Amino acid sequence: MLSIQGLHAYYGESHILHDLSLEVEKGKVGALVGRNGMGKTTTIHSIIGLVPRREGMIKLNDYDLVSAQSFQISKRGVGLVPQGRRIFPNLTVKENLVTTQINTKEGWTLEKIFDLFPQLKERQHFMGGSLSGGEQQMLSIGRALLTNPSLILLDEPSEGLSPLMVQEVSQIIKRLKVEGLTMLLVEQNLAMVKEIADYVYILNKGKIAFEGPVESFDEEIQRKHLALSS
Ligand SMILES: Nc1ncnc2c1ncn2[C@@H]1O[C@H](COP(=O)(O)OP(=O)(O)OP(=O)(O)O)[C@@H](O)[C@H]1O
Ligand SMILES: [Mg+2]
Repeated sequence: MLSIQGLHAYYGESHILHDLSLEVEKGKVGALVGRNGMGKTTTIHSIIGLVPRREGMIKLNDYDLVSAQSFQISKRGVGLVPQGRRIFPNLTVKENLVTTQINTKEGWTLEKIFDLFPQLKERQHFMGGSLSGGEQQMLSIGRALLTNPSLILLDEPSEGLSPLMVQEVSQIIKRLKVEGLTMLLVEQNLAMVKEIADYVYILNKGKIAFEGPVESFDEEIQRKHLALSS
């Protein structure tokens, strides 16, 4: 489904990603974990063409994403749930959703989003900025779904949420997995990763330091690669 090989990414003179390779199979959840500033968002932005310079191979099935523009990548079915949610605070919930809606007979509709997130239905006429962090995260996920993606990139969906909301967002992501969506989940919440992901990559200073099935992502590996002192 998603296949990255030998990816290098740069901001000006700064070389951020070094020879990164990563795969997410259809219907699976790949997790990308790593401490702050290690290059997780840069990886996501490389996939959707938002970094100024990237080299290597990034493919969605047979489609080459490196030579494509962001809008083409989105049209091809890659949805983004950005870090910090990035909803429009001065638009209503419904307006936030319809801005990305693609009018097709099949796939996600506003109604289906409201079924998945009853809280958003209740608050559809409220301003985006008045929602709680968890509701804003739902709105951000709903907005991505309305582009009818086959692959969703989630950049730290649990960031800044209460433990209860983290649980709720985890449940939602699990439901999307059941619906057959393929996902790349960037997270620092390791419990969430263990609960949802099939396969885990650890990013350290722009390089993959570990990869393996979620069962092998044990405490020793976590201590070795993710402890604050290392
Ligand atoms: N627009 C930019 N211009 C220059 N350097 C950048 C830019 N964005 C990120 N960087 C640098 O690239 C490196 C990787 O950043 P990135 O945002 O990918 O990390 P991250 O793993 O997503 O971190 P976090 O968990 O804090 O979101 C950092 O050293 C950061 O300072
Ligand atoms: Mg980030």
